Amino acid sequence: MDKAAFDTHGWAKLPYDPKLAAWVERTSPQAIQAVNIPENRANWLRSQGTWFVGVDVLANATPLTDPVQKAAEFAMGQNRFDWGLGQISTCYKGYPKQDANETVGMFNYRRKRDFAHLDGLKAVGPNRRRKMEEFHGFILGIPLNETPPQAAPFIVWEGSHLIFRDMLVKTYAGTVPKDWHRIDITDAYQQTRADIFNTCKRVELHAKPGEAYIAHRFALHGMAAWDKDLDGPEEGRMIAYFRPFWQTEMQGWLLG
Ligand SMILES: [Fe+2]
Repeated sequence: MDKAAFDTHGWAKLPYDPKLAAWVERTSPQAIQAVNIPENRANWLRSQGTWFVGVDVLANATPLTDPVQKAAEFAMGQNRFDWGLGQISTCYKGYPKQDANETVGMFNYRRKRDFAHLDGLKAVGPNRRRKMEEFHGFILGIPLNETPPQAAPFIVWEGSHLIFRDMLVKTYAGTVPKDWHRIDITDAYQQTRADIFNTCKRVELHAKPGEAYIAHRFALHGMAAWDKDLDGPEEGRMIAYFRPFWQTEMQGWLLG
């Protein structure tokens, strides 16, 4: 991984590695099986069945290749973390369709703005007030199958991690980490996100099995709409994501 590019851009691609390709080959049948378990489908299908969110459905499959481990340790600034379970984000032709829980505004944001968000920030209550509820270390994406580049790729706004870090440092100034999950950051978040849309480059990140990409925990990111009429694999566009939780002191999460 190009560490300087990761620091500047907030994302980096991990080049093809046969060991990771072998991991994908071993893992994808297990992933397809997990996606098709009726209980998992009942829990995780969204957008009228065009997206299977699949948080924590991939068990016993940590991608422990050397380049992945090194990239993860660099993004985390430490080697003390637990990989946790994997997410299997599976997208189908026609994504997105309007979800029953989505307003027209939210749906349009999904369609036109890739549902761009900061991980861990939850919209709470009828007014969707934003508070940090989860503190992740990074986002690692590993494609589990071969797909066309326009089949709902991962999107990242280049350099946005630095802008969000500034915002969070200012917002949490004079507070203690144990209170961060209670602090409403809606206004600063929305203003900052609008600034990012205006100033940062939107990058579509597509990768092939055996490649991977890693995004900074503060990078604005999302998922593009599936290009209209494009055909993709029958099992959908499958990507495994790992987002380990931050496990040491929180100033490191904010500043590290
Ligand atoms: Fe995310």
